[in-house]
Amino acid sequence: KLTQLIDTFGRVHNNLRISVTDRCNIRCFYCMPSEDVQFVHRSKIMSFEEIVRFIRLVVPLGVDKIRLTGGEPLVRKNIPELVKMIADIPGIKDIGITTNGILLPQQAQQLYDAGLRRINISLDALNAAKFKQITRRDDYDKVLAGIQSAHDAGFDPVKINAVSIRNLTEEEIVPFGKLARETGAEIRFIEFMPLDADNQWEREKVLFAHEIQEILSQGIMPLVPEEQPDKSAPASNFVFEDGVGRIGFISSISAPFCMSCNRFRLTADGKLRNCLFSLEETNIRELFHNNAPDEEIIAAVRSSITAKKEGHEINTARFIQPDRPMYSIGG
Ligand code: GTP
Ligand code: 5AD
Ligand code: SF4
Repeated sequence: KLTQLIDTFGRVHNNLRISVTDRCNIRCFYCMPSEDVQFVHRSKIMSFEEIVRFIRLVVPLGVDKIRLTGGEPLVRKNIPELVKMIADIPGIKDIGITTNGILLPQQAQQLYDAGLRRINISLDALNAAKFKQITRRDDYDKVLAGIQSAHDAGFDPVKINAVSIRNLTEEEIVPFGKLARETGAEIRFIEFMPLDADNQWEREKVLFAHEIQEILSQGIMPLVPEEQPDKSAPASNFVFEDGVGRIGFISSISAPFCMSCNRFRLTADGKLRNCLFSLEETNIRELFHNNAPDEEIIAAVRSSITAKKEGHEINTARFIQPDRPMYSIGG
């Protein structure tokens, strides 16, 4: 076994997030422009074989956790097949996917049968009109059907990611709290980050985790913190004080978790990014296409990790928003 991917701050990188496509079937305003989205040409997307080759190269460096993202990962053909290919790689302990859920009625069972066990579904509103306002599409019922089919396929728990935005989603918070209590789904409220395509992000639009917690306490009942099994998980977990209903907060702005970050990312077009907010990337696909030897690719991965900054600088005047929005980086 080779030396692990440890950066200059001592963080061990075992968690690789792979975007399989930048395409998406909806248009959430915090992630994508409304129309005329410039997608990467199909010929420049990493093939399944290239993705698997890359994973095989980094497993000996300690990577054991993979999450597939997008765009919307399920709009790419044959994702269950990719899951199976990854599940068959010795050393991979954990495979997850982050999806908008729309295609789950057709795919949830195949994904489960392929070895996927962790599923996070993005849903920001439980009100169809608000859903449309955020996503610019009318697919609310399809997402609900997707959540149901994930549950029916055996995924347990199903996690729901709800990006929270001031003056937009306050009224969704108590209904989400009730949903957590009634269905056992784990609802995670996410602070809006500056990764949108239209530069609409402002600090004033961030609905902070502590405010959401207060709304849940007033509207339902107080929350108590849970034990954190995984120290590098971005969510801090809570349960309602009667023990029914689990809630998480991903407080990227108000309480950044960069100091315990274990993740790095591969974009759909094969660029390695050491941080969501990094301004530089390493072109893995080009190295593959130039027939670079394995040692050279491993060296490139190591230097990417070595160059990783201490954390995002959103809370400082130095912050520069990356020119790739969320859909193009991968969630
Ligand atoms: P697991 O811990 O494997 O369940 O996954 P996750 O919670 O990391 O994955 P998911 O894709 O569901 O991410 C949830 C949210 O966390 C995303 O919407 C992002 O907004 C945020 N997030 C994920 N990774 C990072 C990260 O590296 N940095 C920051 N600041 N936010 C992140
Ligand atoms: N801020 C916070 N979360 C975001 N996501 C997408 N864009 C943003 C943003 N600007 C979330 C999605 C999904 C996950 C992959 O990232 O809602 O749950
Ligand atoms: Fe890690 Fe960068 Fe996310 Fe911070 S912002 S948790 S350093 S990827």
